Amino acid sequence: MKRLLIFKTLRYIHRTAEYVSSRIISLPVHHRTIFVFPFCTKSLNGHTAMDLSSMRKQYNSESESFVEDRLASLDPIKQFGEWFDQASACPKIGEANAMCIATASKDGKPSARMVLLKGYSNEGFLFFTNYESRKGKELESNPHASLIFYWEPLNRQIRIEGIVEKIPPQVSCEYFHSRPRDSQIGAVVSRQSTVIPDREYIRQQYADMEEKYKDSEVPKPDYWGGYIVKPFVIEFWQGQTNRLHDRIVFTKLKEGEAELGDMQHRAEGGWVYHRLAP
Ligand SMILES: Cc1cc2nc3c(=O)[nH]c(=O)nc-3n(C[C@H](O)[C@H](O)[C@H](O)COP(=O)(O)O)c2cc1C
Repeated sequence: MKRLLIFKTLRYIHRTAEYVSSRIISLPVHHRTIFVFPFCTKSLNGHTAMDLSSMRKQYNSESESFVEDRLASLDPIKQFGEWFDQASACPKIGEANAMCIATASKDGKPSARMVLLKGYSNEGFLFFTNYESRKGKELESNPHASLIFYWEPLNRQIRIEGIVEKIPPQVSCEYFHSRPRDSQIGAVVSRQSTVIPDREYIRQQYADMEEKYKDSEVPKPDYWGGYIVKPFVIEFWQGQTNRLHDRIVFTKLKEGEAELGDMQHRAEGGWVYHRLAP
């Protein structure tokens, strides 16, 4: 009896919830705006729209602001290293080296995707991919790229802009063979960014390659290798609760360029820096 009562109560709650949500969705737009739930689904002219206007997180307090004398180094690569190490040590960050890279076609149409940073130095930022992928083709005709690291638990973003170059094939080869064997086969099999009929197709290709190279080294395909993004702009962004976020931007001086711009300061290694309004 008690179970039946609980069951009926739950069914009643469920139906009431269904009724309320269907009413919210069917109300005209000017009425519906009063129901602002986080993540609520709304029907707008027959299309679904998500109202996320109330999603907002607390950033750092004023005492934790990122002011110039808190820079670990006036060399932006070292400063990157400092933040990268802190992100890598942060248990809430699963892949500190995951970065978004934006490229653009020759006529300026942008595209962005995540890749993994595999090294950095004064030379630049290294990642590996398929040279015939969409990003590879775009970089072939337009070697400019923009990188973003966003470490949400630390309220930090780093933006990098630079010129992209392929690294020497020998270096790509060494890295290729340092990867687990299944990743090597995966790289051979996947003609990244091409259309394929179904998942079975790629599974079959993988099985064929596994068989083919079962007793030998997997050769690095010519269409796979590394790129280095040689930076000329690096921006460090630190979120602040009062929305007065900190933005310190380093710019590489061009060959023979010595003059500082307005409110610009000399940094190290041929860089200068300034602060931007958030
Ligand atoms: C966290 C993460 C890391 C990734 N790392 C790489 C990578 O290092 N290299 C790569 O080619 N693709 C990587 N991918 C897949 C790319 O995002 C993308 O799907 C692929 O490179 C094809 O992009 P394109 O068609 O724009 O060239 C990664 C995806 C995610 C989500």
